[in-house]
Amino acid sequence: MSLQGDRTRALYQKGKQYIPYGVNSNFRYWGDDDTLVIPRGEGPYIWDADENRYIDYRLGFGPIILGHNHPYVTRRVQEALQDGTVFAWMTPREVELAERIARMCGVDKVRLSNTGTEATMHALRIARAYTGREKFIKFEGHYHGMHDYVLFSTASAQKAALGSRRSPIPQQISSGIPNHIREYVYCLPFNDFEMLERTVTAHWGELAAILFEPMMGNTAGIMPAPGFLQKIRELCDQYGIVMIMDEVKTGFRIAKGGAQEYFGVQADLVTYAKALGNGFPIAAIAGKDDVMMTVHPGQVSHGGTYTGNGIGTAAAVAVLEMLEKEPVIESTIANGKRMMEGIGRILTDAGIPHSLSGAPAMFGISLGSDQPPTDFRAYLDSDHGLYEELSYALIHRGVMPDADGREPWFLSYSHSAAVIDETLNIFEDAVREVARGYKGSPKPAIEVVE
Ligand SMILES: Cc1ncc(COP(=O)(O)O)c(C=O)c1O
Repeated sequence: MSLQGDRTRALYQKGKQYIPYGVNSNFRYWGDDDTLVIPRGEGPYIWDADENRYIDYRLGFGPIILGHNHPYVTRRVQEALQDGTVFAWMTPREVELAERIARMCGVDKVRLSNTGTEATMHALRIARAYTGREKFIKFEGHYHGMHDYVLFSTASAQKAALGSRRSPIPQQISSGIPNHIREYVYCLPFNDFEMLERTVTAHWGELAAILFEPMMGNTAGIMPAPGFLQKIRELCDQYGIVMIMDEVKTGFRIAKGGAQEYFGVQADLVTYAKALGNGFPIAAIAGKDDVMMTVHPGQVSHGGTYTGNGIGTAAAVAVLEMLEKEPVIESTIANGKRMMEGIGRILTDAGIPHSLSGAPAMFGISLGSDQPPTDFRAYLDSDHGLYEELSYALIHRGVMPDADGREPWFLSYSHSAAVIDETLNIFEDAVREVARGYKGSPKPAIEVVE
């Protein structure tokens, strides 16, 4: 049964006439029958063009930490609009935002950007300029945005083309990337201490950076093995490599100070976006004084017409004010735990092997085995088909996770205990439906879109 009602279908078809595949990001394309059109959201809810209400756990792929259309953020942005938006000069709000980020995240310096893609692109350039080296390490199943250097072995990669675990092949996941760019990246399985050490000791003289997601925000919330982030820190210190923690999904979400606080590891550079703006476009590159000061005007480029623009900056100041004055993170964590426990209990009672991984504000569910995956390759062995079936059963009942289990479930401050309990009732119903046909053997994997 299609997810589209009549009005949604009509709008989608009209959009498709002018917008390739009817979407402005390929990740939003669920096929011609299931791609939705969402005119509005409020708190934990979104409504489609046919007025069907969903409790939203995609939350725009993570930015919504307070709830959709949060009144305080909206008001602060409206106030800021009265002042104008872009002057190609510094504004007082940028000073306030940088000071807040520095205080909350324990970083020395901050530069603003607009998207996570821009932030990781600039961080990589800074690392290259700082070290005078060109290559970097990233991990399989980690996603860092849309620029060419990082579109290798992301969560959209095909397992068969990743090569052997002991000598992984960087898999270019889009056409249109110049072939030679592959030479700049080593892609390794996450949580493999030995592979990491071997690669660094063999190639450190050419390595500018180790770029990573502290937990796998694009592969089912897989957590770092105990000591793995510390190992990255150690190797970066030992060999003069810049440690770039990509906190685009974890920042201002899994803890007030993000993954650096959560895992107790301080990186050289950190990238933020998503939750920083609760849905308004804003990002940041932050880090240690000497590394950040590499962006010397006339020597190393960083900039952009809209960096520090009035709208994104005002939204971010408002979000961080909320995080500091209200128990946003504490409450989201408490409700996330309630949700994870409930989901685990329901799946156990239904006899469906599963594991949950991640932090309460952002967690993943892997089906088909009780053994939690520790890297991307292991996750690909889980039962994607069953997960997709379950998510569609949920969506038809008004609960909206992503249909692709690599994308975590996100929670916001607006997901109250009552909303969680309503979700769990629906979850129980949906599990009952899919459990009826469950035979224990994996179903075919879903198609990958990028
Ligand atoms: C960890 C991570 N880094 C970077 C990005 C890119 O951010 P944006 O979509 O804002 O360009 C994403 C997007 O999902 C992400 O999850």
